[in-house]
Amino acid sequence: MTDTNRRWLLASRPVGAVKDSDFTLDSGPVPQPGDGEFLVRVTHLSFDPTQRGWLGGDTYLPAVKIGDPVRAGAIGQVIASNHPKFKVGQLVQGTFGWQEYVVSNGMTETGPVAVVHAGVTPEQALGVFGITGLTAYFGLTDLGKPQPGDTVLVSGAAGATGSVVVQVAKALGCKVIGIAGGASKCAFVTDVAGADACIDYREGNVARRIKELAPKGVNIVFENVGGEILDAALANLAMRARIILCGGISSYNDTSDNRSAGLLNYMNITVMRATMTGFIVLDYAPRFAEGVQALATMMAQGKLKTIEDVQHGFENCPVTLRRLFEGKNVGKQLLQLTELPLPRV
Ligand SMILES: NC(=O)c1ccc[n+]([C@@H]2O[C@H](COP(=O)([O-])OP(=O)(O)OC[C@H]3O[C@@H](n4cnc5c(N)ncnc54)[C@H](OP(=O)(O)O)[C@@H]3O)[C@@H](O)[C@H]2O)c1
Repeated sequence: MTDTNRRWLLASRPVGAVKDSDFTLDSGPVPQPGDGEFLVRVTHLSFDPTQRGWLGGDTYLPAVKIGDPVRAGAIGQVIASNHPKFKVGQLVQGTFGWQEYVVSNGMTETGPVAVVHAGVTPEQALGVFGITGLTAYFGLTDLGKPQPGDTVLVSGAAGATGSVVVQVAKALGCKVIGIAGGASKCAFVTDVAGADACIDYREGNVARRIKELAPKGVNIVFENVGGEILDAALANLAMRARIILCGGISSYNDTSDNRSAGLLNYMNITVMRATMTGFIVLDYAPRFAEGVQALATMMAQGKLKTIEDVQHGFENCPVTLRRLFEGKNVGKQLLQLTELPLPRV
């Protein structure tokens, strides 16, 4: 163990895309656990578009304070413990933030620290069995209510959440159309994630392509991107379609005055007696175990793969966050800081 702890602190609230100068790389001594506390060596960080919102201001969580470590989901290993429930060598999951070491009493900003189940890798714990997989699972099943034969349209389909939605919808017997940026991402959405078709939105004419692929309209829209892509989906609804408004990444860096400029096709929600529902996955926390079980069953049946994009090196935190907004990630974006320092127990 080194005796230095590095942390990325928020230096200023980003305007537009995050810049290196929005953060400060700080180093100091490794903190020591007191009574009832344990020390975690962070091994993997999760990168999520919602972090851009947390840096910018209050959202469904309070804004990250200037001078604080950047908030992030993480996996780490307990390397010292004065806590009766947490043992040295255990892999643990919590909102540990952009720091190499953290002392915990078992609670983090978004909930209790959890021990990662034996047999689950850090990548799976943050990806398919973490917030990402649970967002896909509960958004699609609880709000989308998919029926076999339904047509499901998924934007951001090559991303973390979208690639799980594609697989879960296929496992439930739906026809799946993905939307992603670029030919190679579209090939990934069909060939690896298993969608029936994928539309490259960079080629334009998204509404026309949806109509060609789903002439009777789509029953479910799982929306990760928003803006013009959502509008193209709204133009192609089937009767009583369910639109799940999971996210709208196309606007997260947008500071222009017209960033919420209206959707042209919203009245089709009325015409088609459709519903559009927003949700925050944290509201499903009491049902997370049920979601993990369902996802694990699909994986055991060979219907769900883990798809991760793992970068390396703590110094690369800001650049890894930017990857999400530059469309560079395929699947779940992670950053590995270190190998496990101790044998896992
Ligand atoms: N409601 C909830 O509780 C909840 C929970 C988790 C995530 N979310 C939301 O779900 C969405 C997906 O999150 P994720 O973690 O799975 O991230 P992700 O999809 O893995 O990563 C971001 C992807 O978004 C696409 N993108 C980025 N900027 C874009 C733009 N301007 N226009 C169109 N596409 C753009 C890029 O893919 P392309 O290369 O294909 O453009 C990029 O690879 C986000 O909107 C996020 O906020 C919501």
